[in-house]
Amino acid sequence: MFKIFFIFLSSFVSFSTLAAESSFPIIDYQSIHHPHISNTGMVVSQRKVASQVGSDILGKGGNAVDAAVATALALAVVLPRAGNLGGGGFMMVYLESLDKTIAIDYREKAPAAAHRDLFLDENGNYDKQKAQFSLLSAGVPGSVAGLYYALTKYGTMSWKEVIAPSILLAEKGFVVPHDLANTLSFSTYRKRLTSNPAAAKSFYKKNKDLYSAGEILRQPDLAWTLKQLSKHGPDAFYKGAIAKKIVKEMKKNGGLITADDLENYVVAERVPVKGTYKGFDIVSMPPSSSGGIHLIQMLNMLESYSIKEMGFGSADTIHILAEVMKRAYADRSKYLGDSDFYNVPSGLISKEYAKELNKNISLKNRTPSNQVYAGNPLPYESPDTTHFSIMDSFGNAVANTYTLNFSYGSGIVIPGTGMLINNEMDDFSSKPGTPNGYGLLGSEANSIEGNKRPLSSMTPTIIFKDKKPYLVFGSPGGSRIITTVLQVALNVMTHGMNIAQAVNSPRIHHQWLPEVLMIEEGFGADTEALLEQRGYRLYPSRTMGSVQAILNKDGYFYGAADPRRPSAGVVSP
Ligand code: DON
Repeated sequence: MFKIFFIFLSSFVSFSTLAAESSFPIIDYQSIHHPHISNTGMVVSQRKVASQVGSDILGKGGNAVDAAVATALALAVVLPRAGNLGGGGFMMVYLESLDKTIAIDYREKAPAAAHRDLFLDENGNYDKQKAQFSLLSAGVPGSVAGLYYALTKYGTMSWKEVIAPSILLAEKGFVVPHDLANTLSFSTYRKRLTSNPAAAKSFYKKNKDLYSAGEILRQPDLAWTLKQLSKHGPDAFYKGAIAKKIVKEMKKNGGLITADDLENYVVAERVPVKGTYKGFDIVSMPPSSSGGIHLIQMLNMLESYSIKEMGFGSADTIHILAEVMKRAYADRSKYLGDSDFYNVPSGLISKEYAKELNKNISLKNRTPSNQVYAGNPLPYESPDTTHFSIMDSFGNAVANTYTLNFSYGSGIVIPGTGMLINNEMDDFSSKPGTPNGYGLLGSEANSIEGNKRPLSSMTPTIIFKDKKPYLVFGSPGGSRIITTVLQVALNVMTHGMNIAQAVNSPRIHHQWLPEVLMIEEGFGADTEALLEQRGYRLYPSRTMGSVQAILNKDGYFYGAADPRRPSAGVVSP
């Protein structure tokens, strides 16, 4: 087939033309999946307008961190379901000048008064309303502190410069994309958001009417908040006028966050977790995220199998993926929590431990989840979310994932600020054996304690090839983040897909419990039948994750914005 195409092509194009073109980036032009290509820098985020803001910063000579902070602040305006000031997240920064990757943990912290039974009712049962939709569900937000920390430590531009585009977007407004109009019309979100007067004012018209795609959404309260931040820096948020509004609302409506909690919030700079897979170096987020550890653990296990030969999307490959995922998520439920409070076993990412776990995997037979238990890694020895990826022409890279937890967080806007507050406290394990909003189980390691960070699955990751950043990526998706990141990594490293195909290809997910294999469309009925024959209970999922990725190869950046969530986009200066 390829040969025929080549003969056909060569009858039109002379060999000398082809030779001349060989200095262009090498990409398979016969692919049905096309990445964006540039060599000047690249921003890939879940909103093209926010990517444009970041790209403009790169165009002005800013570095990847400057662009990251500007993009994150813009997403707080144009992607209210996940971009945020009232939430938290993680930023991986590769600095070319130091040849070093830094992990910035700006995850929310539990208010000091939080305690392990916070979300139990009088009968000792998990109270979903409290844990997910009340002010009690809010952790002390870290986004403002984290972005400011990144900029002032690793950026080159001023805070005022990077915040300016967001003020304009909030004040003058932006064109509502279909995706935003659509989610705001969903009955669950509409009911939740319109029952909170400040949220209704921010995201709906008078009388709680909907915005249509193409209309302009202005957010004057959010513009006020951003101007306060521009003028006074993070102090406005943690001590000043914004802090006062947060504390007032907490007191009035039963939240726990105090002025002291806000003032005591600290960003943690951490050492990334590192692993290897078939010659690639994997660098990812350590606790308080579980993402990096389980990504590396699963890759360690998968290294022993002939995944390439089994082929993408075959029943055999999906079976091995599911077996590996189950074991990682069983370990997650037992061993993972905020490492400032709990000694997470470092043995989880050792190659020996992966070999040990692999001993119980059969190539053909499914292990029922009730026969999968957390393993025995060696102990600690010493020492709706959104992702964006950025690379600059200086060789720096940023992978950032941040969130309010659910889409639109708790659905509560702090009056006067236009700012949604997170419901990240539900990421703690409220009661052993009772799953959280993502069906995840947890234990003592992730129990609620004052000042502790709830365990996350966010997995901003940089994969290195020949010691240079090769793949910069991450995803939202709750518990499905880690398995989404895993599959995109395998699609590139093992299946040799171009980045657009790697991102677009269908995915599966297994998290041990509940015992179902979630599966996107596109694997085919015969594969599904083979999996069902092995005893898998398939659960069709429309989409999983939303990966924003950049591949850096041969002097070019190849970008792919996940088509699963519309209005994402790649922009280059
Ligand atoms: O930190 C976590 O793992 C969750 N709060 C992430 C939530 C999420 O990805 C929602 N987006 N789809």
